[in-house]
Amino acid sequence: MNTGPIKDLGRTFDLVADAYDAARPGYPDEVYRALSELSGVELDGATTVDVGAGTGIMTHALRARGSHVIAVDPGEAMLARLVSKAGRPNGTRVSALLADGNALPLADEVADLVTYAQSWHWLDPVASIAEARRVLRPKGAIVGCWNLNHAAQADWLAAYEARLAEEVPAYWGPAVEQWSVPPIAAAFEVIEERWIPWTRLIGIDDFLLDLRSHSYMAALSAERADEVVERQRVALRAEFPEGVLSVPMRVYLAVGR
Ligand SMILES: C[S@@+](CC[C@H](N)C(=O)[O-])C[C@H]1O[C@@H](n2cnc3c(N)ncnc32)[C@H](O)[C@@H]1O
Repeated sequence: MNTGPIKDLGRTFDLVADAYDAARPGYPDEVYRALSELSGVELDGATTVDVGAGTGIMTHALRARGSHVIAVDPGEAMLARLVSKAGRPNGTRVSALLADGNALPLADEVADLVTYAQSWHWLDPVASIAEARRVLRPKGAIVGCWNLNHAAQADWLAAYEARLAEEVPAYWGPAVEQWSVPPIAAAFEVIEERWIPWTRLIGIDDFLLDLRSHSYMAALSAERADEVVERQRVALRAEFPEGVLSVPMRVYLAVGR
């Protein structure tokens, strides 16, 4: 199989797959409750296509709740980490497809849910939704969610984001005035949206490993990324000498039909 174009799509995150796997947070339980409530789809027994599944954060959480998941991602290194964790909780099935979410290698009407956890903004906004609609059964739903630092809730976090905006050319986040959540809501006539706040307790070292897993950091040279991380480490250590952060987070959840 010629995986050239697929490799190109998956390159960014494959560069930081280890950091991603080690340090990115999961989604709080409330996200799965709300997702089921807003979509009207019972997760237990549902078939879900998880597009941009990456290392499997949402894939495995859905499986733990009884869903059969088809994970789709063009990143070989990301998908390899997903597969390495693919035991069989509760007898659920997982298939991992190295593929482009804009052209799903799936038959029509095979799924109850299509999820984009932190991923829809990497796809074509029109082709991706057309594909999701094609593979969904008539009562199925499309779900987008993003796990975000809630910088407005803590001065130290706002300062951290501001330093990134200053130092990292490709940075895109709450410290940029024009920043907003990806416009997935615009793709639907019927859309339910919810913001779900939560708090992440994490050591500074792991928080900075998470930083390294962002695409804007992957765009830097290794030396420059080290400098950015070290500057953040010094600032965070000065403010939190005990080395633990309580990070205000919020998940933006959008469910459309
Ligand atoms: C920020 S990660 C999200 C991973 C995971 N869903 C999570 O919640 O952590 C974005 C993922 O989208 C994938 N991606 C990028 N372009 C894609 C495309 N055209 N089709 C499907 N996935 C894509 C990347 O390879 C990456 O694994």
